[in-house]
Amino acid sequence: MGYLRNSFKVVIVTGVPGVGKTTVLSHLSKIASSRDMKMIIVNFGDFMTETAMGEGIIKSRDELRRLPLRKQLELQSLAAYRIIEYASRELGNEGILVIDTHAIVKTPAGYLPGLPGYVLDKLKPDTIVVIEAEPEIIVERQARDKGRYRADFGGIEGVRSLLSYARTAAIASSISYASTVLIVYNREGEPEAAALEILKALEAL
Ligand code: AP5
Repeated sequence: MGYLRNSFKVVIVTGVPGVGKTTVLSHLSKIASSRDMKMIIVNFGDFMTETAMGEGIIKSRDELRRLPLRKQLELQSLAAYRIIEYASRELGNEGILVIDTHAIVKTPAGYLPGLPGYVLDKLKPDTIVVIEAEPEIIVERQARDKGRYRADFGGIEGVRSLLSYARTAAIASSISYASTVLIVYNREGEPEAAALEILKALEAL
């Protein structure tokens, strides 16, 4: 089984920037700890940002997607390796690793798969969750989230296209490790309901 899965369960949570992944996952974390579930939640971009800031090549995480593409690939591959190393230390042979990341990243060089083969070979996901919402709502959430730079996503039409690429990319990434794909709608004012939907799927793994 080791070549098909990690010893702990791996759930990858994707969605276009501003759809509310991090918000939904903070609810998931609270619910999991209230039920004594062994779960850790990591943000893929945090691992990439830490390395890139350590090298002095970015000042904020929003600069990652504008780095030279080959540098992004190097950071991406290293992040996947470090996440599994960290989860193995924290979880041992049981529990659930949840990874907050992207199935597709918009870069000046084109759309970059967030979960290419060399990343999947390390993460071996049981499930890939795609969080979605209406493009109009996502643009409003992006605008409310003042601490982040997301002005380059092309407004409602840009987000609509990205939603479609993101869902397609998640499905493509599910094939090599037979990961299930779960589409979860993050309704306005109801991030907890989205978290509960993810939890229900986790219980079936
Ligand atoms: P990351 O930090 O993951 O980028 P991001 O998606 O732009 O930001 P968030 O994840 O913080 O957005 P979110 O969708 O979680 O929204 P939030 O919960 O904040 O990644 C940074 C970078 O790392 C990427 O750009 C990329 O370069 C790189 N990277 C990452 N993974 C990679 C990979 N695999 N390969 C290559 N590169 C990778 O919510 C937004 C707002 O909405 C908030 O104000 C919130 O309060 C509100 N909100 C959320 N849900 C609701 C709701 N239900 N109702 C009302 N308001 C809501």
